Formats: sequence, structure tokens, C-alpha cells
Amino acid sequence: MKWDDSLYTGNSKIDNQHKELIKRIGQVLIACRERKGAEIVNETLDFLGDYVVEHFSDEEKLQKQYNYPDYKNHKKLHEKFVADFTELRNRFNSDGSTLTVITKLNRVLVQWLMKHIKVEDKKIAAHIKAQVQ
Ligand SMILES: [Fe+2]
Repeated sequence: MKWDDSLYTGNSKIDNQHKELIKRIGQVLIACRERKGAEIVNETLDFLGDYVVEHFSDEEKLQKQYNYPDYKNHKKLHEKFVADFTELRNRFNSDGSTLTVITKLNRVLVQWLMKHIKVEDKKIAAHIKAQVQ
């Protein structure tokens, strides 16, 4: 999982956090694929879990600050992600890095996030930009 320019929202704070997020998800996926010990995967998942919460909260603060009209819906999307992530965590804890867990990691983390950034987060950045101008 790599950063590419199609992910730029144009808001530097959001973009920098997204870059870090993508780097961390890449580390989780590599750790799983290489069948690294559960401890390492757990550590990366722990970090990712905390980082996601922090990032979402920063993004939500920004939306409030700029009266983003779709704030409620966006917050719901974040909550759904956190719930899916928690479920995945539990599954990893009980099953380890099985193929099902890795496939889910890909779907829940990678695909969801890419789409979310490209569609939803870009809308926030555009809204902020329009407000600032
Ligand atoms: Fe978001």
C-alpha cells in the first residue's frame, strides 16, 4: 500500500496524517504477510488503532471549525470504520494472521480508506478551501 498523488486532498494537515496512516497500514500488511510474530502485528495494530482515532478526531474538529454541512454523516462513516477495525482486531486476537484476517485487513483498511480519502475527505478539503478564499 503506497501513497499516490490521487490521494491528495489539498489540505496539508489531513494529507500528512493520511500519509502516516498509509505507511502504518503498509507495515501491518507486511507484518501479516511475512507471518511476523503476533506481537509485532499486535504492536502495529495498536498504533494504527490509536492513530486512526486521533486522525478522525482531528478531521472532525476541522469540519466543525469550518461548518462542514455533511459533518454528521462523515462522523458516522468514521464510527463504522472504528467498529470494523475493532472487529478485525478481535478476530486477529482469536485466529492470528489467517488468510481471512488478511483479506479482511485489505478490504476493511486499505480499500475503505482509499475510497474514503478520495471521495469523502476530498469534499472536506474542498469545503475548507472555499471557506478560506
Ligand atoms: Fe474522513
